Amino acid sequence: MEAVTRDFFLFLSKNKTLNQLAKNRCSHFATGKIIGGTDFASSIACIKALNTQGLSVTVDHLGEFVDSPEIAAERTEECIETIKMIYTEKLDSHVSLKMTSLGLDIDRNLVVQNMTRILETAEQYDIMVTIDMEDVTRCQATIDLFKQFKDLYKNISTVLQAYLYRTEQDLAELSKMKPFLRLVKGAYKESPKHAFPDKADVDTNYMKLIEKSLLAGNYTGIATHDENMIEFTKTMQRKHHIPLDQFEFQMLYGMRTNLQQALVKQGYRVRVYVPYGMDWYGYFMRRLAERPANIAFAFKGIIQK
Ligand code: FDA
Repeated sequence: MEAVTRDFFLFLSKNKTLNQLAKNRCSHFATGKIIGGTDFASSIACIKALNTQGLSVTVDHLGEFVDSPEIAAERTEECIETIKMIYTEKLDSHVSLKMTSLGLDIDRNLVVQNMTRILETAEQYDIMVTIDMEDVTRCQATIDLFKQFKDLYKNISTVLQAYLYRTEQDLAELSKMKPFLRLVKGAYKESPKHAFPDKADVDTNYMKLIEKSLLAGNYTGIATHDENMIEFTKTMQRKHHIPLDQFEFQMLYGMRTNLQQALVKQGYRVRVYVPYGMDWYGYFMRRLAERPANIAFAFKGIIQK
């Protein structure tokens, strides 16, 4: 049943009509619940409120699978402006972005060109840029781009997904560069050819990756709402005397806010992923696919508006 619900929401996440409808009619519902705002400027208050609670942030301008060079250029400009505003507003925030939003599906050289401009600005203002990981068809290209940029810029990190069989090998390879890595379970619908079909195997692999990344000395973002994974990390940290400033927990904006605050009180670093923009529909459907219990929360939100 769980798998059917998951597939249903992942299917809905790609519906263009619903996406348009959500964008035009329902953005007010998402704001302040699952997104910071409909643009970066309107998200600043939300980021400041999180920072005041001791939570660091990473912001993501929603919108992926860009298929025109003009839109990819707009995304690049927007990202550069965001980096500058993070600096001028003195926000404790990184930037997350997707390679498809900068034109990965159009031309690799275009991404290199756009990303170079972003990383030059990020270096100038000392803001970290994280390349989110998308579906498996873009995984190799994303890792290759990360490696290429990591040689040239220090303010760059990326994401590895525990559901992919290949990730243990990718982690071993990337660890040679001592990267800042975000570890996640993985959010896309992947075939058993590429990904563990059973959740228990994903969880086991996730724990293995957390341990390997921390022991390799990588600065590691443990991005999960799963208390078992968080407890595992704490135990592992104590056992191996991992410095508390070598890792952080990361969670999505609006999810498990009590847990986020509890971890801060316990002395752990916590970063909240704050998406913003009009294209929130696909993101929201992926969150529903992960946790159908969020449906209740979604409907409550609609009724309250
Ligand atoms: P999982 O979905 O396995 O749930 C385990 C348990 O955790 C649940 O049974 C429940 O107890 C608890 N739980 C989970 N979600 C909850 C909620 N919302 N409220 C209350 N309890 C909850 N993916 C990707 O493919 N590429 C990427 O770049 C990223 N980036 C990213 C950044 C950040 C900061 C986060 C937190 C996540 C991502 N993801 C991602 C998404 C990630 O791959 C994954 O799909 C989700 O985090 C869901 O998996 P969990 O590990 O949170 O728990």
